[in-house]
Amino acid sequence: MPLLAIVYFSISGTTEKLAHAVARGAAGMAEIALCRIAGDDIVSGRFRNDGLLQTIDRADAVAFGSPTYMGGAAAQFKAFADASSDRWTQQRWANKFAAGFTTGALAGGDQLHTLTYFSILAAQHGMLWCGLDIPGGEDPAGRNRLGSQLGLAAHMIDGALPQSDLGTAEYLGGRLAKMASRNG
Ligand SMILES: Cc1cc2nc3c(=O)[nH]c(=O)nc-3n(C[C@H](O)[C@H](O)[C@H](O)COP(=O)(O)O)c2cc1C
Repeated sequence: MPLLAIVYFSISGTTEKLAHAVARGAAGMAEIALCRIAGDDIVSGRFRNDGLLQTIDRADAVAFGSPTYMGGAAAQFKAFADASSDRWTQQRWANKFAAGFTTGALAGGDQLHTLTYFSILAAQHGMLWCGLDIPGGEDPAGRNRLGSQLGLAAHMIDGALPQSDLGTAEYLGGRLAKMASRNG
């Protein structure tokens, strides 16, 4: 069974709910490693959790998650990404599958920029990007309601994630796990 690493940062738990939904969607098709980036992982501005990076070394697929902060990934996620530069030199993560998910307070809160960053990070590592094959506004279950096919863009309504966003996260996890299985 392929290993799916879900690497994410979350303070108030919304992105974490999406991470768990991605894991639910992949259950039975992949082993899951939930890797939450913690504030303590960053020492003097540098990400120092080598165990987390080693988990990705072993993974067949990786889902990147962060809240959208000021139009981009949170600084804590970026510290993790910057610490992957040693792996980049040798393209150690090349040919792993990658996907991304983010949330914001607003429907149009510039989440696309966070997803674009995740896809560029994946491209730098030679990873293979897994987007969403759900056309926005066309899905009977209402998934991908914000119409982002690069990855999952979610936002809270009345302080909570709608079920359609959690369903989209599950779908993305399943799609990523299936791709990784086909590769094995
Ligand atoms: C510093 C900061 C910057 C934020 N910037 C944005 C933003 O650019 N767009 C947006 O839609 N939401 C923005 N938000 C709202 C967060 O994305 C939202 O509350 C998110 O659900 C938090 O994720 P978490 O619960 O996983 O910590 C911002 C929140 C904070 C604290």
